[in-house]
Amino acid sequence: MDIDTIRQEVAKIPAWYHCLDLGNGVVTPGYTATKWGVSGDMVGLPPSLAGKSVLDVGSWDGFYAFECERRGASRVLATDSFAWRKGKGGFELARRILDSRVEDMDIDVLELGPERVGTFDVVLFLGVLYHMRHPLLALERVASVSVDHLILETHIDLIDLPRPAMAFYPGMELNGDDTNWCGPNPPMVLAMLKTVGFRRAVVYAGPLEMATSVRMIFHAWK
Ligand SMILES: C[S@@+](CC[C@H](N)C(=O)[O-])C[C@H]1O[C@@H](n2cnc3c(N)ncnc32)[C@H](O)[C@@H]1O
Repeated sequence: MDIDTIRQEVAKIPAWYHCLDLGNGVVTPGYTATKWGVSGDMVGLPPSLAGKSVLDVGSWDGFYAFECERRGASRVLATDSFAWRKGKGGFELARRILDSRVEDMDIDVLELGPERVGTFDVVLFLGVLYHMRHPLLALERVASVSVDHLILETHIDLIDLPRPAMAFYPGMELNGDDTNWCGPNPPMVLAMLKTVGFRRAVVYAGPLEMATSVRMIFHAWK
């Protein structure tokens, strides 16, 4: 595709979520990654993923999936459901322009399992946990497809409470968005990760003040 065609195709996508560098100075007009500086380095992606299999759960336009491929991953599977039902054109266009081999599957978090997607060395669960009505069950499904390293980024709440606790948003309490269901505090995230079978779980970064919420990044290992 020549540069003018790329620009035209990018402009045809109704809404980009990610700012994706497509080369030749074309960056998609997204809302996040990396507009807030939440790059692959910020979430703690290993500099080299050579030979690793990676699952990016809730990939949307695929910023982190493409970044993992760029870092040498041997296989990358991007999954999503909610956002892709409204349109997957951004992900598909970026994959074409980047000449990427990232695979995709439309699957709900709660349907993840080794029999559906296989298992992965590195699993990304970025910006998805607080959208879960059943966060512990969701983490159980994520743990079932993870054989080594999980990177989790989430909105957090109740930071002053020292014991595991989670805010529940039955309505539009968080950012006026009724797809936001929960805000665990850091001890809650760590306790849930241990409960679903991760041997070790740590806070990697945060709290980070984002435009509309407070975020934290956790790493865990089987
Ligand atoms: C805030 S975006 C995060 C996108 C990307 N992971 C990132 O961090 O930039 C949340 C993503 O989770 C997806 N999502 C929400 N609920 C889901 C579910 N039940 N199953 C699969 N994906 C879901 C949304 O479609 C959306 O792509």
